[in-house]
Amino acid sequence: MRKKIVAGNWKMNKNYSEGKKLIEEILSNSSIAEEQKKLIILPPFIHLSMASEVLDGSKIGLGAQNVHHESSGAYTGEVSAEMLRSIGAGYCLVGHSERRTYQKETDQELFSKVKQLLQQSIEVIFCIGETLEERESGKEKEIISQQLNVLFQLEDSEMEKLIIAYEPVWAIGTGKTASADQAQEIHAFIRSKLAERYGDTIAENTSILYGGSCKPDNAEELFGKEDVDGGLIGGASLEASSFLSIYKAL
Ligand code: PGA
Repeated sequence: MRKKIVAGNWKMNKNYSEGKKLIEEILSNSSIAEEQKKLIILPPFIHLSMASEVLDGSKIGLGAQNVHHESSGAYTGEVSAEMLRSIGAGYCLVGHSERRTYQKETDQELFSKVKQLLQQSIEVIFCIGETLEERESGKEKEIISQQLNVLFQLEDSEMEKLIIAYEPVWAIGTGKTASADQAQEIHAFIRSKLAERYGDTIAENTSILYGGSCKPDNAEELFGKEDVDGGLIGGASLEASSFLSIYKAL
């Protein structure tokens, strides 16, 4: 059975003491321990060691928002998958639309990042999604297919370790959520593409998260859809109360 997941992408928010306080608040909520449900936080790199210590022994997952596509070397300012592993990160985002846009990350780099992470046994949350322009011209499925194709060079045993996040770019940080039906349509499409390439078992076992203005008041409806296995949460993950109510909606 596939896991239900709520992951909080803090992006470039929270200084050290604010970040620590937020993690402690999340941790002090006792009901986060169910087998098939997972709560994950994705703080900025600089907080990962602290977060790893604070979360030690807890069921809350910890991950990074990015990783470099090479394993080590002269890449000033970058962080490798092995470094992430060494401080206890179990997850990492790859392909977030903000990085695709602002850092001009290429498909080849994204694929290399995925490989680096898998080599370190770090679970990848691979983000895909169309822009408003692409949706308005009816190209959303074409774009989603292209973005998924990057992954389709992976072996079955690698694909099994991936989590997909569908994040329509027009819904990120805009307050415009995809309707639950729009999300379900794309999630089912993604699962059908996974089934075509990897077969039904892998497709059925892959968690597909929705991201883009997911909030406590719309989470339940979104998560109620058959192919929506949880959420990747930006703005609403910056307060323990809203993040935890989204988790409760699972
Ligand atoms: P948002 O961001 O919830 O603030 O829209 C989601 C994301 O970018 O992961």
